[in-house]
Amino acid sequence: MAILPILEFPDPRLRTKAALIDAAEVTTPAFQELIDNMFHTMYEAPGIGLAASQVDVHKRFMVIDVSEEKDTPRVFINPEIVANEGGQVYQEGCLSVPGIFADVTRANQITVRFLDRQGVAQELTTDGVLAVCIQHEMDHLDGKLFIDYLSPLKREMVRKKLAKQRKHVA
Ligand code: NI
Repeated sequence: MAILPILEFPDPRLRTKAALIDAAEVTTPAFQELIDNMFHTMYEAPGIGLAASQVDVHKRFMVIDVSEEKDTPRVFINPEIVANEGGQVYQEGCLSVPGIFADVTRANQITVRFLDRQGVAQELTTDGVLAVCIQHEMDHLDGKLFIDYLSPLKREMVRKKLAKQRKHVA
């Protein structure tokens, strides 16, 4: 398995709108390997979710595991939210915006339709951190980042902080 490079803000490729996946592609060895590599990359980071957009693959799918034991891998292909209810505020972070955390308001409960990694249609109703994570990763597929919900001033502070961090690493 390979660790894939993760794009970081403000890389313009993170703004790409991802394309729907042909169901026939899902079960191909190449696509299954890509899913495995994305899980490996996410667990190593470590993170609880990774959208394909973040590894410069502009197709509509993401991998998620919000479990404590890291034993509940979930793949959402061509996800679509068909119902949502209520609101919750959760302090989010993102592997593409390292070291930055901010409160974001999202739906509390969602119902999502998607294909699983076998290409089988599924429907899931969930809430809490899994609902937050699904909404966060789906934003990536539309080229949107959680810091887009912040004020322009705060977003500019994030950009400067990241630029400074990189300078110290380099
Ligand atoms: Ni993210």
